[in-house]
Amino acid sequence: MTKISEEIINDIRKKTDIVEVISRYLPLTKKGKNYFGVCPFHDDHSPSMSVSPEKQIFTCFSCGASGNVFTFVSNYEHISFVEAVRLLGNKLGYNLEHSTKIENPHQKDLEIYKLATKFYQNNINTVLGKNAIKYLEDRKIDRETIKKFEIGLAIQKVSLTDYLKSKNISLDKMIELGIANNTGNDIFVNRIIFPLYDLSGNIVAFSGRIYNTKDSSKYLNTKETPLFKKRQLLYNYHRAHEHLRKNDYIIIMEGFMDVIRASTIGIDNCVATMGTSFTKEHANLVKKMTDNIILCFDGDAAGEEATISAIKVLEEIHVEPKIIRLEDYKDPDEYIINKGKDAFINKITNAISVIDFKMQLLRHDKNLKDINDISLFLEETLKELTKTKDEIVVELTLRKMAQEFNINYDTLYQKYKQYDQTSKVNRQDNQVVVKKNDTSKYQYEKAELSLIYYMLKDSDVINIVEKKVGYFPTPTVRYLSNEIIAYYHKYGQINEADFISYISDKEELKPVISNILSLDSRPEFNKEKTNLMEIDDYIASINKYVKNKKIEELEQSLGNESDIKKQLEIINEISKIKGVKVW
Ligand code: UTP
Ligand code: MN
Repeated sequence: MTKISEEIINDIRKKTDIVEVISRYLPLTKKGKNYFGVCPFHDDHSPSMSVSPEKQIFTCFSCGASGNVFTFVSNYEHISFVEAVRLLGNKLGYNLEHSTKIENPHQKDLEIYKLATKFYQNNINTVLGKNAIKYLEDRKIDRETIKKFEIGLAIQKVSLTDYLKSKNISLDKMIELGIANNTGNDIFVNRIIFPLYDLSGNIVAFSGRIYNTKDSSKYLNTKETPLFKKRQLLYNYHRAHEHLRKNDYIIIMEGFMDVIRASTIGIDNCVATMGTSFTKEHANLVKKMTDNIILCFDGDAAGEEATISAIKVLEEIHVEPKIIRLEDYKDPDEYIINKGKDAFINKITNAISVIDFKMQLLRHDKNLKDINDISLFLEETLKELTKTKDEIVVELTLRKMAQEFNINYDTLYQKYKQYDQTSKVNRQDNQVVVKKNDTSKYQYEKAELSLIYYMLKDSDVINIVEKKVGYFPTPTVRYLSNEIIAYYHKYGQINEADFISYISDKEELKPVISNILSLDSRPEFNKEKTNLMEIDDYIASINKYVKNKKIEELEQSLGNESDIKKQLEIINEISKIKGVKVW
C-alpha cells in the first residue's frame, strides 16, 4: 500500500473544514453548536447525522457511522482512506500522486511482475500462442477480453527466467517472487497465464491454467509472498471498486474465470475469492465498498456450503447478503454461457434473502406433501425466522408460508411468537449465566467505553489511566487504549480527529470507536470539564472486575487440582489478590 506521512495527513485535515466538505455532498443545517444532516450511510428519514465544527468529527446517532473528514469522503465515495486523503490533499495543492509512488517499498518487485506479464502477453500473440488462443476462443474469451485481463502464455520454448536474467534480475529475486525454482527454471510451463492483482490493481502473482496437456492441478498459482496473500485478496477488486458508483452492489464469486465471464456481458462489479473460502478479511474488504453484497458461488454442493459459511462470516460484521444459486449449472461462467446475459441479470435482480435461502435448504430433504414433513419444515423455518430482526421479512415470510400450505396466518403468527419468546428466554438465560459469574459485567463495559471517551478528550485522563488501570478486559478496548497512549506519547497531546486518521487502517477498532464517538449525543457525557471522581469510579469498577475474574479462574483451577502442594500455592495466590493474609 502507498503511504502518506502522518504529518501530511494531519496537515491536510487541519486545512480542511469538515462542515464545508460534507456540505458539498448534502445539505447541513446549524442547530446550536453543531450541524445536522440526513445520514447518507443508512436509510435515514430525519437528520440523524451531526457534524461538529469544533471537533471536526461527524457521528450518526442512528446507524453509528462516525469519523473525521477523510472517513466521510472515503465512505461516501467508496474509496480507501488513503485515496480520500489524496483527494482532499490534491484539492489543497499537494501533489500526492508523485510522492506516494516512490514510497512503495515493493515498487521494484511490482515492476518485475509487470515485465513478466508483458513477456507472457507477447508469447500468446506469437505463432506459439495459436493453440492457447484457440482454447480461449472456444471458451468464448475474445481478443478484447484477453487484452483487458492481460491474459498471457507460458511455453516451454521460451524461458521467462532467461528473459529476466537478460534484464539483470537475479535468480534469487525470481525465486523470492515465485517466478523461478531453485534449479533456475520457470515455475509456469505450458499454461495460460492470468495475472492476479492486488487491491490497487498491481500485478502481484499469476495463476496458470493447463490448456492442451494433462496435469493433476488445473490451475497453478504463484506461492504466497508478502505481496500475495490469498486470504486478503479478491480478484478484480480494483475494477469492481470503480464500477460501484454506477451499481451500488458487489457480486462475490469463486473463480476468476467467472469474473472474467461476467465482464464480457458488461457486469464489472464482481470479485472472486480464487478458490479459498471467504475469509473475515474478505468480508471487511467488501464491507468497505458497500453493504449490498450478493453471493454467487458455484452451483454444486460445495458452492452451497461456501454460501452458508460466507453468510456466517458476514453475519459477524452485521452484513446480510443476498444470494444467487445457479441450479444445475456448475458456475457463473457456465450459467452465462448457456443462459445468456438477460437470464443472469434476472438472477441478480431476483437474488434471494438469507431466510429464503435457508428455507430452500430446509426443503431439500423433505417431501412437502407429507404432513409430518410439512410440520417439521414449518417448525424449522419459524425457528430460523426468530433470528431475523427485520419485522417486514418476518411478516412477508409468514404470509408466503400461510399461502403455500394453506394455513391461517394468525395460527402461524401465534406459533412464531411462541418460538420467538422461547428464543428470547434462551438468550436471557445465557445472559443470566454470564451475570451469575460476574455481576459487574455491564458496569465494567460501560466503564471501559467511558474511560476511552474521556481519554480522547483530556490528556490528564490518559495519564491517570496509564497509572491506574492495569488491564482493560475487552481486547479491542485494550488495543484502542494502547494506541491512544502511544499517540499521546508521540505527539504530547491528543486530537480526536487526527487520532481517527492515525488508526484508519485498523478495521477491528472501527466498531468500538463508533460506539465511543456516539456517546457525545448522551447528556451525561459531553460536559465542559472532566469529573475526576467519575473517572476514579470507572477505574475502580474495571479493576474490580479484573480482580474478580482472576480469583474466579484461580478457584476453578483449584477445583481441578489434586496435588496438595499446588492447591496451597493457589490458595495463597487467591488470598494475596483478595488482600487477606492466611498464613
Ligand atoms: P474452479 O475449479 O471452480 O475453476 O476453481 P473455474 O473458475 O471453474 O475455472 P475453469 O472454468 O475450469 O477454467 C475456482 C478457483 O479456484 C482456484 C482458482 O483460483 C479458480 O479460479 N483453483 C482451482 C486453484 O487455485 N487451483 C485449482 O487447481 C483449481
Ligand atoms: Mn468454470
